Amino acid sequence: MRRPQQSAARTEARQPHEYREPKPHAGGAQPPDFPRDLVPRHVALVMDGNGRWAKERGLARTDGHTAGEASLFDVVEGAAQIGVEYVSAYAFSTENWKRSPEEVRFLMGFNIETIHRRIDEMDELGVRIRWCGRRPRLWKSVIRELEIAEERTKHNTRLTLAMCINYGGRAEIVDAAAALAEDVRAGKVDPKNVDEQLFASYLDEPDMPDVDLFIRSSGEQRTSNFLLWQSAYAEMVFDDVLWPDFDRTHMWKAVESYVSRDRRYGGALPNIVTADPASPADTNAR
Ligand code: FPP
Repeated sequence: MRRPQQSAARTEARQPHEYREPKPHAGGAQPPDFPRDLVPRHVALVMDGNGRWAKERGLARTDGHTAGEASLFDVVEGAAQIGVEYVSAYAFSTENWKRSPEEVRFLMGFNIETIHRRIDEMDELGVRIRWCGRRPRLWKSVIRELEIAEERTKHNTRLTLAMCINYGGRAEIVDAAAALAEDVRAGKVDPKNVDEQLFASYLDEPDMPDVDLFIRSSGEQRTSNFLLWQSAYAEMVFDDVLWPDFDRTHMWKAVESYVSRDRRYGGALPNIVTADPASPADTNAR
């Protein structure tokens, strides 16, 4: 099939005021007025429930995936409206190769087509597209489309959309460990210097901040191997809505829940600040 031409690659960065405004919600919903500093920097999405949505309508599973595309890009528009900086979308896991060959083939082609179709509007919005995932086994044509998108949008600063394709949290950690071990063997890294910060620099996207808000649609309550390292202290929101019925208003509702929560990172509330922060007293509330 002959595909529509995309705009030529930009040769220089634009100023943020040159990005287009996010598209309004189809139903006219307006974003809640979140205090800017409470908005999650990084929202992770497990786009689950496409198959069940299709089954309920007597459609093929793949029709559910097709319908789910609009949900993802509506969430991105809504994320841009409230100032989210990173959205990570779990679009194909390292375990999804276990699905039927027909569905795998569909999903490979679907990811290529989706990225190709959406690149102009994402670029105009100021979205930087990144790919997280393993290279081996992934179709070369998918990698090519992802690399074109990465190159084309590399200067954009409004929001980063991480397309996680052939991605698995354990795979990412194992690959990082292997690369680090290589560097230790080559004498580039002293094992004494290995700490969390150094280890994280070996992950797929070292500059990606930790996940603040982890959303999964369709009522399932598990992470399914998504962004395991980055989600260590993520706030989890499980929404019963099936992914094709999910839109930015569901994401905003999740953000409302997120802003109302206490994130303690292993500390305790209320946090009694001692005179010498280097030697906290036993009086800290537990
Ligand atoms: C994890 O559940 C969910 C995913 C890896 C998402 C799959 C997404 C799609 C198939 C297509 C969506 C793509 C777009 C662009 C809308 P799982 O089913 O792999 O894990 P589980 O077996 O633990 O439920």
